[in-house]
Formats: sequence, structure tokens, C-alpha cells
Amino acid sequence: MSGARTNARLKKSLTKAPNVSDQKKTSASREKRVFKPSAEFQRQANLGSLASYKKLYAESVNSPEKFWGRQAKELLVWRKPFTSVLKWKAPHAKWFGGGKLNVAENCLDRHLGTALENKAAIIFEGEPGDVRTITYKQLSMHVCRLAHVFENMGVVAGDRVAIYLPMVPEAVVAMLACARIGAVHTVIFGGFSSEAIKDRINDCKAKLVITADGGWRRGKIIELKPAVDRALEGTPTVQSVIVLKRTGNEVKMAEGRDVWWHDVWKGGPNTHKAKAFDSEHPLFILYTSGSTGKPKGVLHTSAGYLLGAKMTSHYIFDLKQNDRYFCSADIGWITGHSYVVYGLLSNGSTVFLYEGAPNQPEPDRFWQMIDRHAITILYTAPTAIRAFMRWGDNYVLKHRLDSLRLLGSVGEPISPEAWLWYHKLIGKGRCPIVDTWWQTETGSIMIAPIPGAVPLKPGSASLPFFGIVPKIVDEKGKEVPRGTDGKMIITKPWPSMLRTLWGDDERFQKTYFGDYPGIYFTGDGAKQDKDGYFWISGRVDDVLNISGHRIGTAEVEAALATHPAVAEAAAVGRPDDLKGQALVVFVSIKTGVTADDKLKEDLRAHIGREIGSFAKPDSVRIAPSLPKTRSGKIVRRILKDIAAGRQVTGDTTTLEDISVIAALQTQD
Ligand code: WT7
Repeated sequence: MSGARTNARLKKSLTKAPNVSDQKKTSASREKRVFKPSAEFQRQANLGSLASYKKLYAESVNSPEKFWGRQAKELLVWRKPFTSVLKWKAPHAKWFGGGKLNVAENCLDRHLGTALENKAAIIFEGEPGDVRTITYKQLSMHVCRLAHVFENMGVVAGDRVAIYLPMVPEAVVAMLACARIGAVHTVIFGGFSSEAIKDRINDCKAKLVITADGGWRRGKIIELKPAVDRALEGTPTVQSVIVLKRTGNEVKMAEGRDVWWHDVWKGGPNTHKAKAFDSEHPLFILYTSGSTGKPKGVLHTSAGYLLGAKMTSHYIFDLKQNDRYFCSADIGWITGHSYVVYGLLSNGSTVFLYEGAPNQPEPDRFWQMIDRHAITILYTAPTAIRAFMRWGDNYVLKHRLDSLRLLGSVGEPISPEAWLWYHKLIGKGRCPIVDTWWQTETGSIMIAPIPGAVPLKPGSASLPFFGIVPKIVDEKGKEVPRGTDGKMIITKPWPSMLRTLWGDDERFQKTYFGDYPGIYFTGDGAKQDKDGYFWISGRVDDVLNISGHRIGTAEVEAALATHPAVAEAAAVGRPDDLKGQALVVFVSIKTGVTADDKLKEDLRAHIGREIGSFAKPDSVRIAPSLPKTRSGKIVRRILKDIAAGRQVTGDTTTLEDISVIAALQTQD
């Protein structure tokens, strides 16, 4: 398609685009527009034609070992070459056997002595407005120094290190220093409570914790250190805590256990001879929610994970070394691991880190920063896009946004309305949007358009990445016809897949490879259209997606069960315009307890303490009992209807006591 024609068509489609701010809604199934890559974008793209995508994809699935072997050889720096590409004994994969490498070296050392050495690796903006630029050379020196500090503290390869930091450059330094010495990091999102920190540290038996006096969020200090102090009352394995000074507020330091980052840091050497580790050496554990109460420690290893993060960044974000890339996800989630740290730095790009809230001091903070730092790529979540839409177009229109060339979306399905708003208001009709489907477990993006090659359909994550073979199946594992909803599985192993759940391989096998023996089940429902595009509808298990945060209903129920007033609890999701899903909990209370607003507030606070404030329910409903079958099983289907304010549908004849429905319906 010629540039002029593309522009004419774009203009036409833009004028046709519904003004979403006027709340005119189109539904995903009715949205038929296709946005082809512009000739201008294609000309500069890392992969610039549909034919080349199809050719490479065909090779990647027909000869996966040849394909992945070539990529790993070309893209990663090896200390010892691998001798086998894949050993697959479902569900256990061994990628690049015999090979040795150092992940930190692949992110830093490889750029030293090149033109990148003095280029910014990280540009940081704190919420109060402080800005720091760190070059590749400086970042490498920081990492080397911290690697020595770790070693002096007795941390050795394979030891676990918990990181509980705000979004500051030191979080990246800490992760890479772990990788450098082969220690396994587990980053705990700063919104998690002390109970959640304790559970995670105990599950992986971390030896060292890295935290800060605080971080800035909405003009206030998030108190990280007191949460760590409370957690560490019940964590026998932790020997030391390194505390970064960020906010300068006073914190208690435990004698013999806690040290200041700037003290241990002083005068240390800036170079560090890195050891090489096996391809399958554990790189990190990241805890995520599942359908039972206990969070799962997803384990990722070195070479395969890095290859996935690096290659998807290159193709899907069309990443160049002169890009300035802003991912708004916290480093505590997988998105921050793969697309702030490993994928970006291994490609030698510049990553922009922002510490705080998107509406601090005003709702145009992102747009201000994009102009101020000439950001070229923005990767954010539909829940944020919906908030921007709600705050109003004027906050966007005040800014130029002319440095942007590509936009990304992740975390939940993006509605065509939000997609079109993002495309028009932020991308000015010029920037392709990559809607990226993946999971903590998959390590890197699995389904997304390669922007110079694949035409975009608003609301669809489009086509699979190289080597990825998703299929939509019924309960029995039989593929369903195109256009039919089903469950999504991934039929072939891929390099960045999780290797196990930390300390619980049985749960790993059962959770991911149990429903369809030997085949990875995603937990998501989806359909494929006639062009092969995937339309993902969301979780089909008991996992909720609240503002892009994954929360297990069982986890919330387990937290509520520890409250003295609670007899029984059930948590469900209800559709929410802003958050995607909102959390509603149903509680029956013990005799003698008064059901009032104070109790409801107390239950919310309890969940905040047990999990984290982001998991506090939007609504708490109290009743003498919950709807159950005669055999005692809580009927969630009914609770979901009640939560959504829908009429209760389906069979209610098996209920033990029908009157509880009315009791629950009468509350907010
Ligand atoms: C779940 C994984 C890995 C990114 C952050 C979330 C949902 C993620 C999309 C998308 C529709 C999406 C799925 C998935 N999800 N991206 N583009 N379209 N749904 O990681 O916390 O492991 O959650 O997020 O339901 O299973 P996560």
C-alpha cells in the first residue's frame, strides 16, 4: 500500500472513529476495522512484511530446534556454546543444554566498549520530579559493585534474594547484581503487605532482603521498611537486609541485620569478574496467584528466558537502540522483569523508569514525561487507558506526543473503544498498537502483532509469536471450529516457559499440564476468527484480573478465613468499567458478631494486611449464610450474578436454603 493511500485511509478511519469520550460504544464482535501497517512504519521496521512474518513463523513451528538454535546463537553471548537445543519430556523442558552464559553480562558487558557505552541505559523520573540518567557504563559499575557486596555478605549462586523496592534504578541494579553472581531474585511488588512478604520469603527461604526507607506514591511515602520489619519477625532464613535511602524518612535499623545501601556500597570495586552459569540455572522466582490459596512461585531460568525477552522486544516493540521506551508496569510484575529489565537492556535500548502514580500531581503526568524525555514507545495496560479516558481528553491534548512511534497494551483484553481512543488520542493515528497476550508463566509475549508486518484489529492480540502454537479447544482437548469460544492451550514448548513452581513440581504439573495431559493450559478462554486472529476473553478459572493485577479468589477467601468474625467467605469478580473486574466478597459471620459498616471496613482492612491494599474488596456483603448445594458446596455462579446485580439465573433447586439469595441481594 502506498504511503499516500495509507494516510488517506488512516484519515478516513480516524474521522470514522467513534468519539469514545462521548460514550458511544461499539462491541468487540462488531468492530470490523483493520489497520494495516503504514509504508512509513514498514520501511524502518525490524520486520517489515506479512510475507516475512509468515515465512519465519512457518520455519519456527516446522523446524523449531533449527529456528531456536539459530536465534540463541545469534542473539545471546555464550561463554560455552550449547550442544543441544531442546530436551522435552513433558512437562519438563531443558533448553540449550551444555551451554553456559551470564545473563547480566548479556545485558551490560556486551555493550561496553561499543557506541552504547555512554548512552543512557536508564532514564529515571521520581514522583517528586527528580531525574537521573544512568549510562550503560555507569549501570554496569553499579551492578558490579553490588555483586561484590552480595558476595561479601556470603550470598552464593543459587541463594535466594528478596527485593522489595520502589520503581527506582536500584531495583534494576539489584536484579542484575543477583543475575551476575547467579543468585535467584524474587521481586515482591511494593503493594504487598508484610504477611505476603513473609509467605514469599519463607516459601523460597531467602537469605537476603533488599528494601528502601520508602518510595513516593501520590505525594505520600509508601513505608516499605516497617513492612519488611514485621515480615522478618517470622522468617528464620533471612540473615541480612540492605536498605536504600530514597525518601529520607526515619526507619528502624536492626543491629547486626540491617545495613544501609550507601554504607556497604562505599569504596567497593567497580568491576567484577562474572562466572558463567548453565542455561537452565534459575534466574528468578516470581510469585503469582492461582486458583488455590497459596501463591505460586513461578520459576524462570537463564538462557531460554533471556532469549524470549530479548527476541520479543526486538520484533514486537520493533525496538531499536535509539528508542526511549516507557513501560508503566512495576518491576514487581513479570512485565517489569521482561520489558523493563531483561528484554530492554539485552537489546541496548534506553528504558524510562517512573516511580509514581499516573495522576500525580495532575492526570497528565505520563504525557508530560513523554514530551520531556522524548519517549518513543509506551507500553501500558487497558485499565490505565480507561482511567485516562475518564480523566478527559484535555489532559492529553495539552501535550505534543510527537516523539511516540509505537504503543503497547497488556494485562487484560482491550476493548475496541479503548483501543481506538489510545490509537487516536495518544498515537495520533500514526502509532501502531501492539496488544500483547502473555502471562507470568510464559515469561515473554506469546500472541501479539509484529507491527511492521501484521494488520491490526482493535481488540484482538492477533497472531502468535514465532514458535508459539496456541489452539482453542473444548473440555476434551478437541479443537473447536473458528469463531467458537473455547479454552486456550499452547501445544509446543517455548524457550521462556516456566520450568516449575518453586518447591512444588507436582502442583506445576497438575496446574498447567493436568487438564490436557502434557499440553500447557493457559487458564484463558479465547476464540480464533476466520483469519486466524486470537480474541482472548480472560480467565476461565478462579483467578480475577483487577486493574491488571492477578488475584486468586481462593487467596482472598483464605485471608478472610483468618478473621475472627468470619464463619465462611467467598470471593467473586463483577464487571467494572474502570478496573475490568471488581472484587466482591460474601461473608457469613459467627453468631454474636454484629454485621455493620464497621465490620465491613474491618474486613477490607484485614485483606489489606493479609495480601496488600490493592486486593481490598470493592464491596463486602454479609449474610447469615452463603448459597450452598445440599452437599455443602458454595454456588459461585449465583454469587457472581448477585455481585453483578443480575437476576439470578440457572438452577436454584439444589440449594440448601433459597432465602440467602434475597438476603445477599438487598445489600449495596
Ligand atoms: C493473565 C496473565 C503478562 C502480562 C501481565 C499479566 C490476562 C494478559 C492480555 C491481553 C487479554 C490478557 C490473561 C492472562 N492477559 N495480557 N493482551 N489480552 N488478556 O500477567 O499477572 O501473569 O496475568 O492476564 O488472562 O492469563 P499475569
